[in-house]
Amino acid sequence: MPNIILLGPPGAGKGTQAKRLVDERAMVQLSTGDMLREAKTSGTEMGKRVSDVMARGELVTDEIVIGLIAEKLSQGAGGGFIFDGFPRTLKQADALGKLLATSGQNLSAVIEMQVDDAALVARITGRFTCGTCGEVYHDQTRPPKVDGTCDACGGHDMKRRADDNESALKTRLMEYYKKTSPLIGYYYAKGQLTSVDGLAEMDVVASSISKVLDKA
Ligand code: AP5
Repeated sequence: MPNIILLGPPGAGKGTQAKRLVDERAMVQLSTGDMLREAKTSGTEMGKRVSDVMARGELVTDEIVIGLIAEKLSQGAGGGFIFDGFPRTLKQADALGKLLATSGQNLSAVIEMQVDDAALVARITGRFTCGTCGEVYHDQTRPPKVDGTCDACGGHDMKRRADDNESALKTRLMEYYKKTSPLIGYYYAKGQLTSVDGLAEMDVVASSISKVLDKA
């Protein structure tokens, strides 16, 4: 089963596309951002430690996120894993390679979603999600059919993230260019990288990703 990484800056559409793959291909989404937010909401010690770091838009430590992924990988995934927001540093990428090898798995493809910074600001500041099922919406490009009601689960608990503001986004983008973008060269050198146009319509992006998966 294919294991893929969705690589791209904040707002590139990683979560949106990962959720489609979960529905359409029964893959398992491993979003370190979602796991950290869950830890924060459930009030664990680790959740409390990362809360301010995340709100500022900085990366949490490699040790924390590698630990989260190691735990999930050991549980296995029938349809393959989608790594969403992980790895984000060279150290995390090396750790993922080792964890996959140890469990007899490999990485099928790394899909880089290319989006320019101006589009990211509009996407991030207009985003909200369903607090019940995690469905992702946008004020302009993807509003729910009925205002305030989730299309997917009928829930009414729409939420906006604490780091979805222009100031935190500036830091998130700086972190991406400084620490995460070197992964583009890292995976290109391994022959695993495919880049897709993340500025295209959601369905078009989904079809580009499907083509990569069909060849994986
Ligand atoms: P994380 O939760 O991973 O956030 P992120 O990488 O900043 O990515 P986003 O979730 O903001 O964006 P996305 O690409 O998923 O876009 P989406 O599909 O929602 O990380 C948050 C924080 O946690 C980090 O800052 C860090 O502190 C910490 N963290 C997490 N992982 C870590 C790690 N590995 N190491 C260290 N720290 C870590 O789309 C955005 C909006 O655009 C939506 O409204 C959507 O509807 C819209 N949209 C999507 N696609 C399209 C399209 N094609 N056209 C038009 N609109 C679109």
